[in-house]
Amino acid sequence: MSLSDMSIRAKVLWTALGALLVVLGVATTLSLRYWEQEQLTLTGDHALMAVAAAQGPVEAALAHGQIGQVREELRTLVARPPAQGYRLVGSDGVVLLSSDHAEESRLRPGHPLPSPWDIPPEGEVLGGRGDATLSAVVAVTGVGGAGGRATLELVLSVKGIDDAIRRGRIYGFVLTALLCLAYAVVLGAMMEREVVIPMRRMRKGIARASAGEEGVRIGLTRKDEFGRLGASVDRLLEKDEQAVRLAATQQRALTEQAGFAEVGALAAQVAHEIKRPLAGIKSAMELITQEYAMSDAERRLLLRVEDELQHVDETIRDLLSLARPVGLNAQTLDLHAVINGALVRLSGLPGADRVSVERLYDPSVPPLVGDPARLEQAVLNLSVNAVEAMGEGGRLTITTRLAEGEVLVDVRDTGSGIAPENLERVFKPFVSTKPLGTGLGLPLVARVVAAHEGRITVESEVGRGTTFHIHLPVKPGGPKQGREA
Ligand SMILES: Nc1ncnc2c1ncn2[C@@H]1O[C@H](COP(=O)(O)OP(=O)(O)OP(=O)(O)O)[C@@H](O)[C@H]1O
Ligand SMILES: [Mg+2]
Repeated sequence: MSLSDMSIRAKVLWTALGALLVVLGVATTLSLRYWEQEQLTLTGDHALMAVAAAQGPVEAALAHGQIGQVREELRTLVARPPAQGYRLVGSDGVVLLSSDHAEESRLRPGHPLPSPWDIPPEGEVLGGRGDATLSAVVAVTGVGGAGGRATLELVLSVKGIDDAIRRGRIYGFVLTALLCLAYAVVLGAMMEREVVIPMRRMRKGIARASAGEEGVRIGLTRKDEFGRLGASVDRLLEKDEQAVRLAATQQRALTEQAGFAEVGALAAQVAHEIKRPLAGIKSAMELITQEYAMSDAERRLLLRVEDELQHVDETIRDLLSLARPVGLNAQTLDLHAVINGALVRLSGLPGADRVSVERLYDPSVPPLVGDPARLEQAVLNLSVNAVEAMGEGGRLTITTRLAEGEVLVDVRDTGSGIAPENLERVFKPFVSTKPLGTGLGLPLVARVVAAHEGRITVESEVGRGTTFHIHLPVKPGGPKQGREA
């Protein structure tokens, strides 16, 4: 596995542990060295003091030839560790007295000692790091005649110090290992909390969003770099969603437009095919009315035929207007006057007398910019549907409101209501539940509202009634003249 393949956590952990190991290792080694040196110096100093203290009594005992006394003095001198033994060495290097009797009268083993005349009055310590023993030496006078000198040597074992240092090393090693372990655990936990978890959340969030889930947010509330990164990712996700939504809307609009275009082409053909025979039938009917004497019953029959022809004519007109782009003749208008106009037209239509009409107008609704004729037609279509839905009579309520930069027109009836499965479809062309319905009324309303940059929604409960909400934007400029929907 190469370095770049490792996770950030592993990289940070290994780097930090390596650095810690180097620092602790160097610090432990140096401090052990220093401590060893200090121990040797201290032990040497103590030995020097002890040997210097014995110097006087030994010289005195020697002066009186009391060798037993000298041995006794020196024996007490080496009674406690790390003292290991003593020697009295003549200037010729021969051991005069020793804690090890076998050495006496022989040459002192090991490195020769300095000449007693070269030893400073306060004595000196011989040996150091790496030696098995240390020697504290002082010169003693009065040995081998007046002016003669010998060297009093106190031999110290360094083994105790070596053992202590070995223990120190093991202790230092174990401590370093424990510290590294604790450090790794703490650092690992911190990395998990601070880096790995937020990264994982981001990765999962992005994966879910890429899989097409909507409304996914990382939602990191922290203020650090990851918090800021999470917020940026959230902004990106939101933008992405908006783009996707926009694309879907555009796609839908395109599909609908394509549908309308097809309908348009068909409508133009149908209109062309039907209009001519229709005109022929109409003039033939007029001729019949004028030329032939008819009974009342026959006349009524003819009137019904004329009514039906009128219906065919209107249907063709609706089809054509659905196919054509909605051109607006925009001007400043009084919305309430527009609604009143639609209600006047409604009152002339069959069935309107069964219905009571209520107008709840909000006087604060400002003048709007739009096409009054188109809007009147839209309100009329909704009102006609309402009346048709209230076969047994009922109440039609038209409410206007000003809310959050929009004007709302609610057209409510107490009619049959729309079944839930039809609610989605009613704005589509040719969706109708009426025997003579074309299903073009609501699509036309929706197109007119869209041309005014508004939108239309519907709520309905079967058996209780239906409400259509038209939302129109209140804008200083309003929709543009002749805008196409
Ligand atoms: N106020 C309403 N109450 C109950 N159903 C409604 C209402 N408005 C519309 N609908 C339902 O929506 C369908 C579509 O309405 P739309 O106005 O588009 O066509 P239509 O009324 O059937 O025919 P057209 O308006 O062309 O004569 C209706 O057939 C009806 O089922
Ligand atoms: Mg209708």
